[in-house]
Amino acid sequence: MRSFIIDTDTASDDAVALIMALRAPDVEVKAITTVAGNVPLEQCTINALYTSELCGSDVPVYPGADRPLIRIMEYGDWFHGRDGLGEMNYPPPKRAAQSEHAVDALIRVIRENPGIVLVTLGPLTNVAMAVSKAPDIVKNVSRCVLMGGAANTIGNVTPAAEFNIWVDPEAARIVFHSGLPIEMVGWELCRFDANLSLDEIAMVRGFETDLAEFAMDCNRRALEANLNQSGDPGLGLPDPVTMAIALDPTICTRKSTHHVDIETNSDLTRVPMVRPFS
Ligand code: RIB
Ligand code: CA
Repeated sequence: MRSFIIDTDTASDDAVALIMALRAPDVEVKAITTVAGNVPLEQCTINALYTSELCGSDVPVYPGADRPLIRIMEYGDWFHGRDGLGEMNYPPPKRAAQSEHAVDALIRVIRENPGIVLVTLGPLTNVAMAVSKAPDIVKNVSRCVLMGGAANTIGNVTPAAEFNIWVDPEAARIVFHSGLPIEMVGWELCRFDANLSLDEIAMVRGFETDLAEFAMDCNRRALEANLNQSGDPGLGLPDPVTMAIALDPTICTRKSTHHVDIETNSDLTRVPMVRPFS
């Protein structure tokens, strides 16, 4: 059984990634930690709790940072819907989040589980705080599979920046300099053929399960936004692409090792593209 810990700004694509991990037969998700990003922290946490309940899981959910380390918070609800789950008006989760802060939970759970796989699906604020407070945890992480960045390609928020890094570049710099064994799944791997086509969406709906219906329904806003934002037809699912690699590294057929640094000063990398939704 492999141990995972997942840090997420739970909105619709994160939710599909959580389903993948929570339903994987050989994975035990030790904890989910939430971070503000797509939607405010409270909403991310509600979404993570709701998704885990749909999976029949009682995995503990720990709320973390409600804003970046030093910048003002900029949400992504223009892409996922105001609630992050396609404005489907799902009922509130039955469970409550844990009282322990996500940063302390990340440190504790990683210390308790040497060899754990850390999957990050949102801005890196929690992880930056955890490795800063407890640098010793780095040696206990076997893989840090990270959705973020845009390697040699245009971003999805600015021509240079992908959302998870753009929200908190200072945190990203700390994480990329921390020594964590990072496997960066950049925006460039999450477009075009990685999208679900309308036929594939229909195929998923054809499974006729509650999870399949939820996975497609909660992504209805994202389907619209993907076409408006990047001109890509189909449903972009960056976090599920990342989780797929975390679950089965062999599906990554080409990879390379690089020094990565994060631009934190230039305005040229900050100005967001005109948002398609108010
Ligand atoms: O840029 C895509 C990433 O930003 C995904 O993780 C999405 O959920 C948002 O967090
Ligand atoms: Ca995310």
